[in-house]
Amino acid sequence: MSMLTDKLGRPLQDLRISVTDRCNFRCTYCMPKEIFGKDYAFMPKDHLLNFEEIKRLGKIFVQLGVKKIRLTGGEPLLRKDLPILIEKLAAIDGLEDIGLTTNASLLANMAQKLKDAGLKRVNVSLDALDNTLFQSINDSGVNTERVLKGMKKAQEVGLEVKVNMVVKKGMNDEEIIPMAKYFKEQGMTLRYIEFMDVGQTNGWDFSKVITKKEMFQELSNHFELEPVDPDYLGEVAKRYRYKGTNTEVGFITSVSESFCSTCTRARIAADGKLYTCLFAGDGFDLREIVRSDATDETIKAAIVPTWKKRTDRYSDERTEETAKNRKKIEMSYIGG
Ligand code: GTP
Ligand code: 5AD
Ligand code: SF4
Ligand code: SF4
Repeated sequence: MSMLTDKLGRPLQDLRISVTDRCNFRCTYCMPKEIFGKDYAFMPKDHLLNFEEIKRLGKIFVQLGVKKIRLTGGEPLLRKDLPILIEKLAAIDGLEDIGLTTNASLLANMAQKLKDAGLKRVNVSLDALDNTLFQSINDSGVNTERVLKGMKKAQEVGLEVKVNMVVKKGMNDEEIIPMAKYFKEQGMTLRYIEFMDVGQTNGWDFSKVITKKEMFQELSNHFELEPVDPDYLGEVAKRYRYKGTNTEVGFITSVSESFCSTCTRARIAADGKLYTCLFAGDGFDLREIVRSDATDETIKAAIVPTWKKRTDRYSDERTEETAKNRKKIEMSYIGG
């Protein structure tokens, strides 16, 4: 099969699947309580793709060129029996990698089951080590210890663990260096994420972004860093290594150095909508086709043109104006 590429020549290689729009955290920059409160209308259960539907779509996407699937949320570990889904996905011929992005609050108890099911890697979100600050960010009472425990357990059972830290000016600037020191000691990769303008509710503007350049400068006062080459086309993070070690630190620079030109990612929201960009306004409804009597070939024939006509490069084109006025879907819905 020839490679499926979009209008800008980018191949379809990664699929991010959100398995739930719910989360047990209320991070102030993602699901603020004022909006995601008791009355918030999350997806009804019958709108969620079931595991067979996800597996079928996963297989079709792999046939179209996808090598890597990442499960996201909301918080994916809230989805009942997630290891069963992973087992189904792990059985897909040609799929090389399965990852999970999680807040790790439920990870300690599930790590072994996830690993046994065929999961390879977890990316754990943690924005601060200081417990008071962490709790004020996640606004849900979960403490750092629980998250660190989840990470440790995941490492013990043989999962590759990376840490994601969203850095927002005025929120957790003070944690940049302590996080680096701690995870360097642990030998775990930490990735600093520039605060992005996803969704309608996170109050983003440029003044709240700490750029990679600023973070790098600060880190350079404490550590000697050397660049690491990307492993593959379209890798999201810019990677560095602490000199004299094998431990890496990375930056996800969606704002200051966008990476749309090599973006190979498609996303499926928990309700089966297909999006070709994190900042897309509208998605293509795969659930309806999957629930019709369409054959795999018919489903494929619907996905191919969606990718072929893709021109998304939102972060390359971001301006103060698009950041404020464009209709965008929530991070907890599309899965980051
Ligand atoms: P790896 O496979 O381990 O490299 O994972 P990843 O970095 O692709 O996924 P993860 O879920 O850990 O995402 C880390 C951060 O990168 C999150 O803030 C995502 O929203 C962001 N991110 C991932 N893919 C994209 C993308 O295509 N565009 C933008 N703008 N941000 C992205
Ligand atoms: N900007 C950057 N990253 C974000 N995340 C959630 N909201 C934002 C934002 N506005 C991160 C989460 C998680 C990943 C999937 O996306 O912390 O690590
Ligand atoms: Fe926080 Fe991630 Fe949950 Fe959003 S989805 S509230 S960033 S833990
Ligand atoms: Fe890909 Fe859209 Fe992110 Fe650019 S902004 S890297 S096109 S998901």
